[in-house]
Amino acid sequence: MSQTGSNKDVSHASLPGEPAAHGSAVDTTDNPFADPGLPPHQHRIQDIDERAAKRSERTIALLFVVSMLATVGFIASYVVLPIDKLVYIWPFGHVSALNFALGLTLGVALFCIGAGAVHWARTLMSDVEVADERHPIEATPEVRSKVMEDFRQGAAESGFGRRKLIRNTMFGAMAMVPLSGVVLLRDLGPLPGDKLRHTLWGKGKLLVNQNTNQPLRPEDIPVGSLTFAKPEGLEDDAHDFQTEIAKAALMIVRLQPEDIKDKQELEWSHDGIVAYSRICTHVGCPVTLYEQNTHHVLCPCHQSTFDLSDGARVIFGPAGHALPQLRIGVNQDGYLEALGDFSEPVGPSFWERG
Ligand code: FES
Repeated sequence: MSQTGSNKDVSHASLPGEPAAHGSAVDTTDNPFADPGLPPHQHRIQDIDERAAKRSERTIALLFVVSMLATVGFIASYVVLPIDKLVYIWPFGHVSALNFALGLTLGVALFCIGAGAVHWARTLMSDVEVADERHPIEATPEVRSKVMEDFRQGAAESGFGRRKLIRNTMFGAMAMVPLSGVVLLRDLGPLPGDKLRHTLWGKGKLLVNQNTNQPLRPEDIPVGSLTFAKPEGLEDDAHDFQTEIAKAALMIVRLQPEDIKDKQELEWSHDGIVAYSRICTHVGCPVTLYEQNTHHVLCPCHQSTFDLSDGARVIFGPAGHALPQLRIGVNQDGYLEALGDFSEPVGPSFWERG
C-alpha cells in the first residue's frame, strides 16, 4: 500500500528488518510490456517516529476501551430501562428508550472494535508490499518452512506480541461483546416453576358452562351429552383468558354410574357425571368429538381416542397417556364444584414426566 499527501517527504529507504520488496520502476524503453515492478515504498510517520507510533497505539487502545464501556452500557440499559419508556430523539421523533440505547451501545461496541482493528492495520502493522511469485500448489517442505517463517515474520511485524496494551484491550473488547447476547436470554422469560403443574381449578371452584357462562347443576347434564366448562371467575375478556383456558378447559359427560369401570373415576365423579381435561395428551389439541354409545372421545388432530368409561385411557392413536380427571362434587346450593385440581398436569406429557 503506498502513501501520498503528508507522507511524500518521508524517507523511502528500507527500515531495518523490512523486506526490500519495493523499488524503482523498471525502465520500459526497450520493452513496453516489461513488468513495471512495485513503486517505491513510502514510510508512514509511525514507521519512523516512535512517538507517533505510541500515539496510534493509545488511540487504538482507547477505541477498544470505548467498546468495552459500550458493552457495559448495553447490559446496563437492558437491566435498567423500562420497556415502555419513550424518549424524543431528533430526527426520529419519539422512540423506545430501551431499543435506542441497546442499538446505540451495541453499535458503538462493534464499531470501535472494527475501527481499532483498521487503525491498527493502517498505522502500525507493516504496509510493505511484497511480490509473491506463483509456485506449484503442492507444498514442499521448503515452502512449508517458508510459510512458517512468513507467519512468524507477520506476527512479529504486527506487533501482536510486543504491543500488549492493544492485544489485551482487544481481547477484552471481543470477549465482552458476546455478553450482549447472553443477557438477551432473559427475554426467554422467567422459568415456569410449577405453573405448568397447576390450573385455575381448585377446591370449591364452580363449573361454569363455557357457552352460557352459567354455573352448572347436575340436572343440566343429561346422560349422553358433552358439555364444555371453565372455572368460575375466568371471564372471556380477561387478558389471560387464552393462557388459562388452555390449561383449564374441561369437558363434562354424564354416564350411567354402572358403566364406569375405573374405581377412581367413579369416586371422583358425581352421580355418573365425570369431568376431564379437554387438552389432548398428544400435542395439546382440544378433544371435541364424543361417541355416546362407546363413551369414546376423539381428538380431531391425530385421532387419539380415549375411553371415558375407563379412566379416559388411550385406546387408539399417538397420545401418551390418559386425560387427567377433575374430581367434582355438588355444593350446598346444588351447583357442581371442583374438589381440587386435575389429577396430574394437563396436556402433552413431554414436560410432565421430567
Ligand atoms: S393432538 Fe390429539 S391426537 Fe395429536
